[in-house]
Amino acid sequence: MDRILIRGGHRLAGRLPISGAKNAALTLMPAALLTDEPLTLRNLPRLADVDGFGHLLNQLGASTAVEGTRPDEFGRVMTIRAGRLTSTEAPYDIVRKMRASILVLGPLIGRGGEARVSLPGGCAIGNRPIDLHLKALEAIGAELEMAAGYVRATAPTINGQGGRLSGGRYRFPVVSVGATENVLMAAVTARGGSCIENAAREPEIVDLCRCLIAMGAKIDGIGTDTIEVEGTDRLHGATYSVMPDRIEAGSYACAAAITGGELELTGVSVDDMGATLSALEEAGVRVEPTREGVRVTADGPLRPLTLSTAPYPGFATDMQAQFMAMLTLAQGASVLTETIFENRYMHVPELARMGADITVSGRTAVVRGVAGLTGAPVMATDLRASMSLILAGLAATGETSVARVYHLDRGYERLEEKLSGVGADIERVSDG
Ligand code: UD1
Repeated sequence: MDRILIRGGHRLAGRLPISGAKNAALTLMPAALLTDEPLTLRNLPRLADVDGFGHLLNQLGASTAVEGTRPDEFGRVMTIRAGRLTSTEAPYDIVRKMRASILVLGPLIGRGGEARVSLPGGCAIGNRPIDLHLKALEAIGAELEMAAGYVRATAPTINGQGGRLSGGRYRFPVVSVGATENVLMAAVTARGGSCIENAAREPEIVDLCRCLIAMGAKIDGIGTDTIEVEGTDRLHGATYSVMPDRIEAGSYACAAAITGGELELTGVSVDDMGATLSALEEAGVRVEPTREGVRVTADGPLRPLTLSTAPYPGFATDMQAQFMAMLTLAQGASVLTETIFENRYMHVPELARMGADITVSGRTAVVRGVAGLTGAPVMATDLRASMSLILAGLAATGETSVARVYHLDRGYERLEEKLSGVGADIERVSDG
């Protein structure tokens, strides 16, 4: 199995290109199921999860054609054609490996009035149910049946015409990114209008809305917590460019910070990164927007922070592990509180093996800054936790080897290439 080997202690400097957003890609790809015309997605990141989602779309009968960019370029262009669907099922084996597969539920009902999706089960960052996805779909007219670990959702037949949802109103009791995406994709082709209250406001939701509008959907309240949808009979094809990955950008900003370096992150949208950039500034890191993105410079000691994760525009749970790695070297004690997912501190024991001083109590972690970290063999159980170990390795003295690289390949496009391009001593090694 592959691992990433880092010889730490190098200051990172230079320009680092940011890829298209994984989480936007994983909701834009299923949106292609809503039309029989082609949807072309540009700036799609080259990631294992994007490939995995492509295979799922193929299993449903959609074709995926990748064109364009040279192997040495980042990103690619994919045209998805869902002319005729041959299946309406997301099987257990796929959903188990990639939770985002449940995002085919909404578009499949929206397209043909029927979907069968495996329940995802537990995952490494806690018990992640899909009850809100199902309640929201029910509220806009879906009928649900559970059997044998699967949920079957159908749109009822009215006056002999089958297969279309009625539309309706739903207020989320808790903000959910995925459930907002699913219900939106189901609502755009409903007979009537829908109103989604306490909707997630993440930039990836805005990206989805913009793409759906380019496909002919009628949506109001984009970027707010109340999204109104007027159902349309038919969506058409479109060409759409995936937004930049604000989490990848934030992760590399932490890499600049933890190595006392200076990186210009190109292709990012600074407006989407408010909470991350403010937190970096509060930690003493200089942040300057540039023509092509943002420059992050760490030329003094890092200051400790008190941070709590929250839905957008709050501080992203997907940035918690990377900030924790950075704060292990701050001058003083930081307090991090994780409010979105239980069990999202699995990087803590690994960081401790590298010399970090962290105490977890329930949802709160106290990180006491230490003078330095030392390299060690480590492994993580999820994507962002793995990135936090990479960050620690970049700053540590000696060698760090991060196992289970497949987590990183799910969410960071050619990580070692991007980091070695700005001065890191990092390579992928295969143990056969
Ligand atoms: C998405 C992102 C993930 C990010 C998360 C929060 C993708 C592919 N993944 O995940 O990277 O960390 O948003 O920003 O975009 N919940 C329920 N019932 C549900 C759905 C969610 O209780 O039906 C709970 C979850 O367990 C969690 C909270 O709601 O505690 C928020 O989860 P949600 O926003 O749905 O996260 P995802 O869409 O799975």
